[in-house]
Amino acid sequence: MTTREPRLVLLISGRGSNMEAFIRAIEGETLQATIGAVISNEPDAAGLYIAEQAGIQTRVVPHREYSNREAFDAALATEVAAHDPDLVILAGFMRILTPVFVDRFAGKLLNIHPSLLPKYPGLHTHQRAIDAGDSEAGATVHYVTSQLDGGPPVMQVRLPIRSEDTAESLAARLLPLEHQLYPAAAALHLSGRLHLSNGLLELDGEPLPATGIDWRPL
Ligand code: GRF
Repeated sequence: MTTREPRLVLLISGRGSNMEAFIRAIEGETLQATIGAVISNEPDAAGLYIAEQAGIQTRVVPHREYSNREAFDAALATEVAAHDPDLVILAGFMRILTPVFVDRFAGKLLNIHPSLLPKYPGLHTHQRAIDAGDSEAGATVHYVTSQLDGGPPVMQVRLPIRSEDTAESLAARLLPLEHQLYPAAAALHLSGRLHLSNGLLELDGEPLPATGIDWRPL
């Protein structure tokens, strides 16, 4: 019996560098998966071009054409489901998703957020970490629930904040780490070793820390 490769669907809104990291991880065989489609809510997202160049199907579901979030989420869910994903990856997808979408893909919907969650959900994470005088920043891959950036963390990567850092310099140092972290977290999900029940995450049957696995760059 041949089992098919796990299929990913990636949702983007912009430049798509995390999406590109998935393409490279699959090419480099550090992630055993295929990408069924890349879907954007923004017709002009630069990441769509990158995906097309890599021979990946792209779709646009333009949120402005829907009268409310739920109608957009229902259309988006239909498009995602059409590609029969094992895992849905939010990669710089800049729309808040309602339960119409989130509940349909519960337990197989991941996001990456550029902070050490539970610190700094929402926007301007790097500036907020600097303004707070934090000594370190980071990124978190987490399961998505209807609570914004509030679902259970799978993995975090940390990096020190330097005294001369700006939001831009911090983001630029963090991004390459995000590109390693996110496919690694997806691979862990696909390995079947993670189990999510009642909002709690277990790895091989043992509860994970509330901030997920402390992941170190390779
Ligand atoms: C990343 O910083 C990610 O953490 C956040 O949005 C940004 C997306 O960048 N969720 P890209 O589109 O993947 O380049």
